[in-house]
Amino acid sequence: MADQSALVDEYFESALSLVKTCGNLIKDHITGCKDFVLKSCDIDLVTEIDKKVEETLVGGLSKLYADHKFIGEEAVSDGAKCELTDAPTWVIDPVDGTMNFVHGFPHSCISLGLLINKEAVAGIVYNPILEQLFTAKKGKGAFYNGRQIHVSQIKELSKALIMTEAGTSRDPERQKVLFENFKMIITKAHGIRTLGSAALNMCMVALGGADLNFEFGIHAWDIAAGDIIVREAGGVCIDPAGGPFDVLSRRVLCASTEELAQEMAKNLCQFYPERD
Ligand code: IPD
Ligand code: CA
Repeated sequence: MADQSALVDEYFESALSLVKTCGNLIKDHITGCKDFVLKSCDIDLVTEIDKKVEETLVGGLSKLYADHKFIGEEAVSDGAKCELTDAPTWVIDPVDGTMNFVHGFPHSCISLGLLINKEAVAGIVYNPILEQLFTAKKGKGAFYNGRQIHVSQIKELSKALIMTEAGTSRDPERQKVLFENFKMIITKAHGIRTLGSAALNMCMVALGGADLNFEFGIHAWDIAAGDIIVREAGGVCIDPAGGPFDVLSRRVLCASTEELAQEMAKNLCQFYPERD
């Protein structure tokens, strides 16, 4: 049987080349993409570029690897099953930060995670507008534009820069939890930041620029790549209540250290969305 690490290297290089090509589709709309339609609500947007990027990635990878499976945001929106098996599975967000992309706020990315036997083995997050490429492979570290990166060493909430998002839903219960958590962070932490892309937020933790990111209501495609990038940078990725991370749970908390992650988990007001 071929060595898994060599196979992952090959899959990764194929995916990276396709991701770079797709980046040009995003770059063509650097000042914004006003042509969008609504999905689940008035702040959940999709453009033709989201669909084109996903089709190009899925088309290109399935041509190379006929037995690979896909969980892609736009296919799932169109009714495909969100099913994670032991087969090599690419979890794809063609444009993470679609709201930013529509407005021309330059923080959008392509996010691509590869899981084999339900374990994350590679991740790519690429913002073509600012030329930011974050990558990781299992056991081989995390990289930003080719340079190895590491999380910060922050262990206390009182010294931590926290990232989160308001999300793409106006569910009143979720918003109540959001306001409680904003209040807690502003009272207890160093500061709060939101970039408008869950994947890029996670990469900021991997880079050591932020110390923790959490969100309720995100999907597998927003966090699959970020999870392995943060952990390969030396950080942790857990459930926001303190237990193990579950990529399909629609809940994420990643941090520079286990101590910080667990302190935050104790302080967070919890929300449990329906699973992917
Ligand atoms: C969204 C972004 C946003 C996050 C949402 C995601 P999309 O992804 O990552 O920052 O708050 O939860 O759904 O819709 O731009 O791909
Ligand atoms: Ca998206």
